[in-house]
Amino acid sequence: MKRELFSSKIGFILAAAGSAVGIGNLVAFPVMASQNGGAAFLIMYAFFVFFICLPVMLAEMSLGRHTRQNPHGAYSKIGQTPLWNGVGWLAVITPFMIGVFYLVITVWIFGYLAKAVMGQLDTLAQDGAFGVFINSNELYIYMAVVIGLTFLILQSGVKQGIERAATYLMPALFVMLLLLVGYVLTLDHAMLGVQFFLIPDFSKINVQVLTDSLAQAFFSLSLAMGILITYGSYIQKNNDIVGAGKMVAGLSLLVACCAGLLILPAVFWSDPSIDPSELTDSSIGMIFMVLPKIFLALQQDIGFFGASFVASFFFLLVFFAAMTSLISIIEVPVASLMDTKGISRRRSLITLGVVMIALSVLSALSFGRVDWLTSFLSYGGADKSFFDVIMDVFYYSILPLNGLLLCLFVIYRWKKVNLHAEMREGNPGFEGSLMQKYIDVSLGTFIPAILAVIFLLNVLGRFFGVQVF
Ligand code: PFF
Repeated sequence: MKRELFSSKIGFILAAAGSAVGIGNLVAFPVMASQNGGAAFLIMYAFFVFFICLPVMLAEMSLGRHTRQNPHGAYSKIGQTPLWNGVGWLAVITPFMIGVFYLVITVWIFGYLAKAVMGQLDTLAQDGAFGVFINSNELYIYMAVVIGLTFLILQSGVKQGIERAATYLMPALFVMLLLLVGYVLTLDHAMLGVQFFLIPDFSKINVQVLTDSLAQAFFSLSLAMGILITYGSYIQKNNDIVGAGKMVAGLSLLVACCAGLLILPAVFWSDPSIDPSELTDSSIGMIFMVLPKIFLALQQDIGFFGASFVASFFFLLVFFAAMTSLISIIEVPVASLMDTKGISRRRSLITLGVVMIALSVLSALSFGRVDWLTSFLSYGGADKSFFDVIMDVFYYSILPLNGLLLCLFVIYRWKKVNLHAEMREGNPGFEGSLMQKYIDVSLGTFIPAILAVIFLLNVLGRFFGVQVF
């Protein structure tokens, strides 16, 4: 079967930005920034995006385009040993499992969107509403819709499905985000939020914050999930990968900044004397518990319809961001199955869909509804649910490990000359550039070393309850 390609560089940029811009940028980033010194966190995060993440991103895209393969195919084609073949499988199983937890969160967002549209803000804003919602039966209706939409988009292929969805959803997302920021900035006390976000407090930065922010930047740019290898395998030869990569990283950072300017002013509007770092330490807490209360409070200002409209608009924005990320991560195992087994996109989707639905249902049932799934395993001094185990194993541990292995693979197995040759295609000026030298040195030395440290810290902390810092 001939491999389908993105129609243009901009098509690829939108699809890759669609993958990068997700719940991480819109919610996790503002929450982390509010806890860790505002602009101090932002500066550090921006540094990580361009100096640590961008080289990895470019390496993934180049590897994909060079091999015209999914991650497993790419590793085994160049690696040619059982070890690299195994690493290739890890690079496909990880996105599949991360896809499971991302699907569950996307379903929650869709459910909140539906409820906001139905005018049920008061229900969503009640204490304990989130716990009731995630254990309700209606969740499975929302799950069916999200899975159906994902299936429809992926079934239509690279150009007509992934690229087309990104071409509509991404511009819509940017406009909606700007409109919401514009609106929030007109609210009383909004400037307190802007100040909080833009005035750096360097005293909050410590080793833990450093590693957390790097891990967040890594996740947020969709690295080490095989996504950019897979999307890279659909880029045309004459497109400039380096330029496209910079655009994707820049867009993702820009959206994260705008999200900070959206969430923090809204928080200060609701209570000008608030300390946002006390509010919640998770993005889940922010989207599903804090924000509904703020939206409900807006009713005093703009009435029931106004507040429901703003809430629906916000959840739609997050839903669009989540959908384009979700399709990117599911495309990885789909492409892998198509490439390795030579089967059609439809068959691949159906086969994986069945397993994914089963695992997602198990995850969704592990929030108190089914006992053995809620206390699935016990390690690191705590009981862990099925959902927690997926997060701990795949997101916190194997993800940085995959990043580390990718750097080693590209530099020491595929070799720098081949990486250069691929990056030069569509960008002849790359040869001999400062960027090229930086990529060579960083990918072969300190980037894998940093990822190894994150991997070790996470494994010690998550599985053995050892907090090094
Ligand atoms: N950039 C996405 C986010 O920040 O939410 C990264 C991502 C995560 C994409 C998980 C896909 C995914 F399944």
